[in-house]
Amino acid sequence: MSKNPVIIFEGIEASGKSTNLDIAAKYLKKKRKKYIKLREPGGTLFSEKIRKLLLNKNYKLDHKTDLMLFFASRSENFQKIIKKNYNKRIILIDRFIDSTVAYQHYGMNINLNIIKTLNKFIIGNFKADITFLSTVNVMNLRLRLNKRLKLNRYDKFKLKFYTKVQKGYLKISKNKKNYILLDSNTNSEKEMSKIIIKKLEKII
Ligand code: TMP
Repeated sequence: MSKNPVIIFEGIEASGKSTNLDIAAKYLKKKRKKYIKLREPGGTLFSEKIRKLLLNKNYKLDHKTDLMLFFASRSENFQKIIKKNYNKRIILIDRFIDSTVAYQHYGMNINLNIIKTLNKFIIGNFKADITFLSTVNVMNLRLRLNKRLKLNRYDKFKLKFYTKVQKGYLKISKNKKNYILLDSNTNSEKEMSKIIIKKLEKII
């Protein structure tokens, strides 16, 4: 594995995914490693605009429109940020292609082959090195979403939807060595931190 791996953080809403990415970023900063972090949807200035459109709760967009916007955002990120930094810096990404499979296929029933073909079209054979998958149970998901003061369009699905998406993530990660599961129900932030740092120490 490259000393500058591509590390992805995945998981449904309120699973602790972004907190876990911040733990990794903080560790890399402390170790004075060169890294960049970006998110999907988002990243480039233009992709951040796409993010705003996608998550705006005033719009009712068709699932296929969403799919195209997620890919448009990814394409810009890939061409303008990821390719440029690949193998030069550690790349931390908050969501990547598994989000599209989990949300648009497992959650919204869009044909998996269409998603795979579009992914291939946008990123070719590019692959992430490690994926941290954060999970949360329904009870904690409900509690945590209820606590959020501002809900965006993707925070407002029924709990059943998130359950389907999470099951999708677990299917994607099944029997894959490069996926590390982070269960936010049983691990405290400190314990999560330990698992993440232990893995980073090994690969960097
Ligand atoms: P978040 O990452 O800030 O939680 O919000 C982004 C939302 O977009 C989240 O609900 C997952 C969703 N999403 C998809 O549905 N498909 C995708 O391909 C990506 C990158 C995100």
